[in-house]
Amino acid sequence: MTQACKLAAGNWKMNGLRADMAEARALATALTAPSCGVLLCPPATLVAAMADALSGSAVMVGGQDCHAAASGAHTGDISAQMLADSGASYVILGHSERRADHGESSGDVAAKARAAHAAGLIAIICLGETEAERDAGQTLDVVLRQLAESVPEGATAANTVIAYEPVWAIGTGRTPTLEQISEVHDALRANLPDSAISLLYGGSVKPGNAAEIFAIANVDGALVGGASLKAADFGAIVAALDAA
Ligand code: 13P
Repeated sequence: MTQACKLAAGNWKMNGLRADMAEARALATALTAPSCGVLLCPPATLVAAMADALSGSAVMVGGQDCHAAASGAHTGDISAQMLADSGASYVILGHSERRADHGESSGDVAAKARAAHAAGLIAIICLGETEAERDAGQTLDVVLRQLAESVPEGATAANTVIAYEPVWAIGTGRTPTLEQISEVHDALRANLPDSAISLLYGGSVKPGNAAEIFAIANVDGALVGGASLKAADFGAIVAALDAA
C-alpha cells in the first residue's frame, strides 16, 4: 500500500488582513525543508498575495471554498479555476461552518470537489459529527455517510484529502479521546476509494496536543484553525508532524 502523505493545513477562516501576512512569511522563513506538506488557506482576498509572498517557500496556499460551476452568473462566488489562477493548489470543501451557515449538503460538496479536480486543485473534504450525533452513538454512521456522499468518483490520493473534524471540537478547546479519533480514522481508512488518501484530524489542535494526535496510526496530519494564525503555534504543530 502506498503511504499517505503527511500534511499540516491551516484554515484562517474569516481572519486575516494584509498585515497578517507577516505571520505567513515568518512561518515560511522558520521552515527549512519540512518532511510534511505545509498549507495555509487564508480568506480569498489574500490567496493571490500570499501565493506570491510564499512563492519558492515550503508553504503552499489554498482556498476555503469554491463554486461547483466553472464560471457564470454567481455573484460573490469564486470558481476553482480562479483559485488555481491565483496560485492556490488546494481548496477546503464542506467545512462544517459552510454546511451549517450556507446549507451545503454532501451532494453540493461532491459537486464542488468535481470542480476542484477539474481545475487541478486538491480538494480537502471535511466531515464530522455534531455533539448530539456523537451522544446518540451515530458518529460512524454519520461520517461514513458523509464520506460516501461528499467524495466524488475519480477521487485519488493525488487529488483528495479527507479531514475529520468533529463539529463540537471546533474552536472549543475540547477534543475527542485518542481512542475516539483512532476509531473514526480507522473506519474512514477502510472506506476510502484510495487507501493512500491522507486523513487529517481537525478540531482544537494546538502545540500541546499535536504530538499525541499525530501518533495515532491513521492520522496523517491536521486541519488547524485558531492555532494556524500565529507562526509560532503553527510552526510547533508542523514540527510535531515532522517528528511523528
Ligand atoms: P480550531 O483549530 O480553531 O478548533 O478549528 C478547526 C477547524 O475548523 C479547521 O478547519
